[in-house]
Amino acid sequence: MTDVAPLSRNARIYIAGHRGLVGSALWRRLSDRGFENLVGRPSAELDLRDARATAEFFDRTRPQVVIAAAALVGGIAANAARPTEFISDNVRIQVNLLDSAVSWGVERFLFFGSSCIYPKFADQPIREDSLLTGQLEESNQSYAVAKLAGVAHVQAIRRQHRLPYITVMPTNLYGPGDNFDLESGHFLPTMIRRFHQAVRDGASEVTCWGTGRPRRELMHVDDLAEACHFLLDCYDDYRPINVGIGRDMTIGEVADLVAATVGYRGKILWDPSKPDGTPQKLLDVHRLADLGWSAKIPLEEGIRTTYEWYREHGEARPE
Ligand SMILES: NC(=O)c1ccc[n+]([C@@H]2O[C@H](COP(=O)([O-])OP(=O)(O)OC[C@H]3O[C@@H](n4cnc5c(N)ncnc54)[C@H](OP(=O)(O)O)[C@@H]3O)[C@@H](O)[C@H]2O)c1
Repeated sequence: MTDVAPLSRNARIYIAGHRGLVGSALWRRLSDRGFENLVGRPSAELDLRDARATAEFFDRTRPQVVIAAAALVGGIAANAARPTEFISDNVRIQVNLLDSAVSWGVERFLFFGSSCIYPKFADQPIREDSLLTGQLEESNQSYAVAKLAGVAHVQAIRRQHRLPYITVMPTNLYGPGDNFDLESGHFLPTMIRRFHQAVRDGASEVTCWGTGRPRRELMHVDDLAEACHFLLDCYDDYRPINVGIGRDMTIGEVADLVAATVGYRGKILWDPSKPDGTPQKLLDVHRLADLGWSAKIPLEEGIRTTYEWYREHGEARPE
């Protein structure tokens, strides 16, 4: 690990995917901290699957720092329904961003891997060095293979071009701006929506996917944004770095917490014919802790504020 200088407040920072869960949190974080030269483009204006459009955008805007929070992301149902797009879109987006970054001399680049690209049966808590050591979870294999190519791409650029590009491996995230769509969303936002609708409709039963037994770690996206800012200021290493809270609970326990927050008092049923996904996903966050960062937002508080955001915005994504 070598030394990098903290991000300059004047740096032109392109946040790809700035309207998404992660990108919007990074935008909030950096604007709050006085970064005034932030650049973002909605996908309708700049489709990052298009290599030429991406290159032209880099030529015109000349970002110094890129945070690659644009990707096709989704829960088990979306991954199962559209595996072709999960591999094709994600490979193209990350290749176009990384190729353009190298061509136009981008100084710092933050790529996102994910806790779900580790082997399905990795020892828990999952250490960074277990990457690529075993069989992947089938339900999101396309997404994971695309992301693994991105991790390798960042490492290749570091070796060949000596650029301090890094990969961050977030755990499961939630927060304002999340995808609450019942088909494509992750389990926590879809639970919030289901329980909210059950209260609204006076329903006495809600059925959730799977058995409720798998264990998941959940981190508020504002914590992730703070960690990414911290890492951009100081982290320069070829090894991806885990970002999580270091604790997990069963999906059933999360459901109880969501029900209590939303005020749902009916029955929670489980549908074991639907896939559970990987049995446990808990990141080992010792390397990040040793650098001096740890998560701050308790899950109860995070779910409460996310629910408040949902009540205000519904399913809409922020503009
Ligand atoms: N959410 C999690 O739990 C989680 C966990 C680990 C890692 N990550 C990683 O974090 C990153 C961001 O995820 P997220 O949860 O913030 O996803 P998200 O909320 O779905 O946002 C993704 C963003 O990507 C943009 N995008 C998608 N396709 C695009 C395209 N073809 N061209 C340009 N932009 C495109 C979208 O832009 P528009 O809104 O303009 O369409 C959207 O804002 C991803 O790399 C993901 O793998 C997420």
